[in-house]
Amino acid sequence: MTGLRRRAAGFADAAGDLDWVIGITFGSQEAWYKARVGFGARGAEAVFFRDGEYWAKGAISMARQTANETARTANIGPVVLIGPPGSGKGTQAKQIVCRYGIPQISTGDLLRDHVGRGTELGLEAKAIMARGELVPDELMYGMVTNRLHKPDCRRGFVLDGFPRTAAQAGWLSALLEKELFDNNADNKSDNGSDNRSGKSKPCGPVVIQLMVDYNQLLQRLTGRRSCPTCGRLYNIHFQPPKVDELCDLDGSKLVIRDDDREEVIYGRLAAYEKQTSPVVEYYRAQQRLVAVNADRPVEEVTGQVFGAIDSHRGC
Ligand code: AP5
Repeated sequence: MTGLRRRAAGFADAAGDLDWVIGITFGSQEAWYKARVGFGARGAEAVFFRDGEYWAKGAISMARQTANETARTANIGPVVLIGPPGSGKGTQAKQIVCRYGIPQISTGDLLRDHVGRGTELGLEAKAIMARGELVPDELMYGMVTNRLHKPDCRRGFVLDGFPRTAAQAGWLSALLEKELFDNNADNKSDNGSDNRSGKSKPCGPVVIQLMVDYNQLLQRLTGRRSCPTCGRLYNIHFQPPKVDELCDLDGSKLVIRDDDREEVIYGRLAAYEKQTSPVVEYYRAQQRLVAVNADRPVEEVTGQVFGAIDSHRGC
């Protein structure tokens, strides 16, 4: 067993972000054999019995595919991304959508959509957003409730930009508890337990705090560009498009967000410090907070974010 552990550690080093493969395979030697039978693939068997550094590519991708399939069918529950403007909430939310197949709920995007359509909410929110201030809590609740009731949220969802005040955090906790107990009657057994998770208690959110240096935030926000057609994000400093100002995927002309002007950016960062920092404390006190160093390249941050979700979901 010690020998296997040593070789598995070498595998993790060589394969970078694949530490979840070890999670599937290890435990005891017996567990390892079970896992091997479960996969039933020649490549996966070869991995653990080979000496040396090389691991067959087929074996690795097969294991990765298995974990991805699991991620896309399992109950993920609510994931909350918290971080200042420019910390990468939108960027990471899109990675979560790809891996876990749950929807991104960006309150900023929802509000911008209302502004674009000129709805009553959009008209109220427009000037507030242009100043970099937060839209009043009461205006947020109806919009978020409507979105969370859509059927695509049943396995889970990633909230990007909500909650942003202590009041919103309390409101969300109450909603999640009520939703899980009252509204999912079809998922409950006669004794009231939740059949989807096999638990009788509601599953609270995994709350991931993205931490980034202040100067880095300024560069990210002033350099941000986005595609108006597909929503893909770019940054002229860190992730430029292949052709200047054009989307790599559909060739649309990239746009700059109205509130990414320097004078508004300072207001947004100040609003975060004043109104959203208490939300971090709220979740820290509930021991739900997972802090991630988001001052790293996107893929590294994504690895940390997936790790947090994989180890905390089903809480
Ligand atoms: P919202 O749209 O939520 O904006 P925000 O919180 O200010 O966050 P951003 O979208 O600016 O940044 P992000 O963290 O998503 O970073 P991104 O991934 O884009 O809110 C806008 C407004 O709506 C608010 O000001 C408020 O008025 C209102 N509002 C929204 N929700 C509300 C609520 N709950 N209550 C009240 N009002 C609300 O990345 C930024 C840039 O950095 C990109 O260019 C990206 O490519 C780059 N980047 C990302 N990660 C990395 C990395 N690791 N390395 C290098 N570059 C990176």
